Amino acid sequence: MTQRVIYRLPALCLVLLIVVHIPAYSQDKCLECHEAIGDKNAALFKRDVHFSKGISCANCHGGNALKEEMEEAMDLRAGFTGVPKGDHVSALCAKCHSDASVMLKKYKSLLPLDQMESLTSSVHGQLSTSGKERIAQCTSCHGAHGIVSKSNRLSSVHPLRVPATCSKCHANASYMRAYDPSLPIDQLEKYRTSVHGKRNVGGDAKAAECASCHGSHEILAAKDVRSHVYPTNLPTTCARCHSDATYMRGYGIASDQYEKFAKSVHGQALLEKKDLGAPACNDCHGNHGAVPPGVESISKVCGTCHALNAELFSASPHKKAYDKRKLPECETCHGNHEVLAVTDDLLGVNEGAVCVWCHGNDKLPRGYHVARTMRQLVDSLMSAEKEATSLVVEAEQKGMEVGESRFMLRQVHQARLETRTKVHSFNEEQFREVAQRGFDVSSKVSEEAGLAIEEYYYRRWGLLVASFIITILAASLYVYIRRIERNNAQ
Ligand code: HEC
Ligand code: HEC
Ligand code: HEC
Ligand code: HEC
Ligand code: HEC
Ligand code: HEC
Ligand code: HEC
Ligand code: HEC
Ligand code: HEC
Ligand code: HEC
Ligand code: HEC
Repeated sequence: MTQRVIYRLPALCLVLLIVVHIPAYSQDKCLECHEAIGDKNAALFKRDVHFSKGISCANCHGGNALKEEMEEAMDLRAGFTGVPKGDHVSALCAKCHSDASVMLKKYKSLLPLDQMESLTSSVHGQLSTSGKERIAQCTSCHGAHGIVSKSNRLSSVHPLRVPATCSKCHANASYMRAYDPSLPIDQLEKYRTSVHGKRNVGGDAKAAECASCHGSHEILAAKDVRSHVYPTNLPTTCARCHSDATYMRGYGIASDQYEKFAKSVHGQALLEKKDLGAPACNDCHGNHGAVPPGVESISKVCGTCHALNAELFSASPHKKAYDKRKLPECETCHGNHEVLAVTDDLLGVNEGAVCVWCHGNDKLPRGYHVARTMRQLVDSLMSAEKEATSLVVEAEQKGMEVGESRFMLRQVHQARLETRTKVHSFNEEQFREVAQRGFDVSSKVSEEAGLAIEEYYYRRWGLLVASFIITILAASLYVYIRRIERNNAQ
């Protein structure tokens, strides 16, 4: 008995399903006839979320859904509007989707009501080349019939299908050229090479797709400061997933990239100082081709901005040594997300110096000695600069002319900064050359400032002697005049 019920369960369910759907179905003569004439729109509509809410063809196209005769059903006098075109399409969708009294009250839907508003102020809400309508209508991304919830795999905006939906236009060269010939059309192609794109093709709906980075209805041009992909906003866009440990669980990668980046010299410059010269996540990972830079390409990535360091490194003995050991170039010493402002303490053989990670008196000792020498040179140059500076300041306070020395002090400082870059040659001679330039100039400055100070004392001594003589003269003159006066009085 129970077994028989179980056998019939599928059939029962089917009957139940049909019964549930009958009211909407049987009353909709539009659907009935259109299905009968093999209209694919009707076939699609039967899985449509609107159909399941009891919405009829006539809700969108007008007409009388109760009439069996085509002429009566699709009569203009019965309100038949035919096929909506251009901006009328979105206006039609917005009639319900932007209206709380329809969505919330009538259909008990909790969907957001802002799609139309967002779309019209987005880049897709601009006028199309025809000049008569917006670039995109709701149906450009959602289609008109067969619309299902975005979490359903059949939806054209399901994460696995978004790339194809956007690329209908964005990978179409002749279509896009009409708008902006300089706008690349390679987003899908590059996306497919990224870790995100590969996972997306493999069926992982959690990896970023176009809408996760750009948004959906509110998409703005990349150079718009309000865009989700504008450099100062981008780190937060990536962090929505990458800093969410629960979301990223199971992938075996850290979820601290944003946290570290925000504290780094780059993150501080970009996020706090709004310095667009500092890298955002995509400057190192690529936009659509987002992948971690491989060991070989890290110095290229850093080198796009720190060209001199990368150039020196490539010519240095470390280049071959690191390649052989598969060590990443810049990252080995500076890290990637947590790159900090450097200090001289990174250099040398003391605790805190990076050189002693690998070099010691007993292992790779040549590097150890060079590291120690470089640090000694840096320290001496620093004290030479300090000494020269204090002499110049003293001369200046004594009212001496020090314009030229001030100018040369800047050259000393410059040489000291240059040594920090020259570290990356990992070559003692090259390093010494720059340091020496600093020493030469600083001793010249010290010498000249010293002379100026000497001259000050010389002048002051001279003044003292001169005023003493003048005083004596004046006193003698006074005595002399008094004497003449006294003589005259006698
Ligand atoms: C008895 C059959 C029948 C009924 C009922 C019917 N239609 Fe049609 N409909 C057709 C046929 C056939 C065509 C194609 C004829 C044509 O191209 O003019 C058509 C065309 C259309 C078109 C396309 C018009 C165009 O300009 O391309 C729309 C939209 C449409 N019907 C909607 C509706 C709606 C809404 C209803 C119900 C209110 C409805 N139909 C009821 C048979 C029917
Ligand atoms: C949610 C609104 C909506 C509903 C419901 C709807 N349609 Fe449409 N239909 C549209 C829009 C919008 C278009 C214009 C096509 C576009 O913009 O892609 C359209 C286009 C059409 C066309 C013209 C297609 C073509 O290729 O030119 C036909 C025919 C049609 N609909 C029939 C129907 C029938 C039949 C039903 C019911 C089974 C139906 N529609 C239900 C919105 C709707
Ligand atoms: C440029 C493509 C595009 C256009 C144009 C577009 N949508 Fe969407 N829409 C999407 C994407 C992508 C999603 C999925 C968003 C997500 O997962 O966050 C979506 C989601 C939705 C949802 C689900 C709820 C939500 O907001 O997440 C509704 C409802 C919706 N769109 C309605 C509309 C309406 C109405 C229009 C026209 C005013 C429209 N869409 C125009 C791409 C588009
Ligand atoms: C007659 C009112 C009405 C019209 C017109 C209408 N919709 Fe809807 N739409 C609804 C309702 C009701 C739902 C289901 C809401 C729910 O499940 O919470 C819905 C659901 C959707 C969803 C699924 C959202 C999701 O992810 O769960 C999309 C997408 C959508 N509509 C797009 C459109 C588009 C595009 C148009 C215009 C072609 C349109 N709608 C026209 C009432 C309407
Ligand atoms: C109907 C075709 C069409 C569809 C579908 C479409 N777009 Fe667009 N998109 C355009 C056009 C046209 C432009 C404007 C180009 C211009 O004027 O510079 C544009 C602009 C953009 C821009 C701004 C480019 C810039 O200047 O920085 C982004 C980002 C964008 N689209 C992303 C998307 C995403 C993501 C999707 C899918 C959710 C999508 N688009 C779907 C046609 C489309
Ligand atoms: C991982 C995040 C991410 C994903 C996924 C993504 N984009 Fe982008 N996209 C960006 C960033 C960042 C920029 C800004 C580039 C810049 O500043 O020059 C951008 C720029 C654009 C532009 C402007 C032109 C250009 O290429 O620079 C378009 C159009 C665009 N994306 C479309 C798409 C489409 C279509 C998809 C899906 C196939 C997609 N994007 C997927 C992050 C992403
Ligand atoms: C929608 C969520 C989401 C967003 C937004 C997102 N990602 Fe991802 N990302 C993922 C997932 C999931 C993976 C797969 C992890 C894996 O395979 O290791 C991934 C993988 C990566 C990887 C490869 C990691 C590895 O070594 O396997 C990089 C690099 C990456 N994302 C960078 C970015 C950048 C940069 C941005 C912003 C421009 C971004 N992601 C935005 C979800 C996201
Ligand atoms: C200065 C360059 C740079 C910036 C900026 C940067 N990354 Fe990375 N990122 C790297 C390098 C280099 C690696 C490779 C690590 C390795 O393989 O050793 C990496 C690795 C990753 C990985 C793989 C997992 C891991 O932690 O090793 C993810 C995910 C990632 N980055 C996301 C981001 C996100 C999100 C941002 C922005 C908040 C960002 N990155 C900013 C250089 C950068
Ligand atoms: C073997 C360790 C090591 C490697 C590898 C390394 N650096 Fe450095 N870097 C240092 C040290 C040490 C300093 C600080 C020197 C000082 O302040 O005296 C420094 C300083 C810097 C500075 C600040 C000084 C300046 O030039 O403005 C930048 C920028 C820099 N490195 C970038 C890079 C880049 C880019 C790479 C890869 C091409 C790289 N570094 C590889 C050790 C390293
Ligand atoms: C898009 C350009 C850009 C890229 C790519 C980039 N940087 Fe930078 N970097 C900067 C800027 C700008 C600063 C200065 C920030 C500030 O101090 O305001 C900086 C600062 C630094 C500093 C600190 C210098 C100091 O004087 O203290 C180091 C070290 C550094 N970067 C290393 C790296 C490494 C390693 C990479 C690759 C993993 C890298 N950078 C990639 C632009 C970049
Ligand atoms: C990650 C390990 C590592 C770090 C950190 C490191 N080195 Fe090296 N260094 C090497 C290796 C390996 C060689 C190659 C040794 C060889 O081939 O004999 C080398 C070679 C050198 C050489 C050339 C030695 C020769 O025989 O001509 C110098 C100079 C040098 N390093 C200086 C430095 C300085 C200065 C620092 C710190 C700023 C530093 N190194 C940090 C691993 C490192």
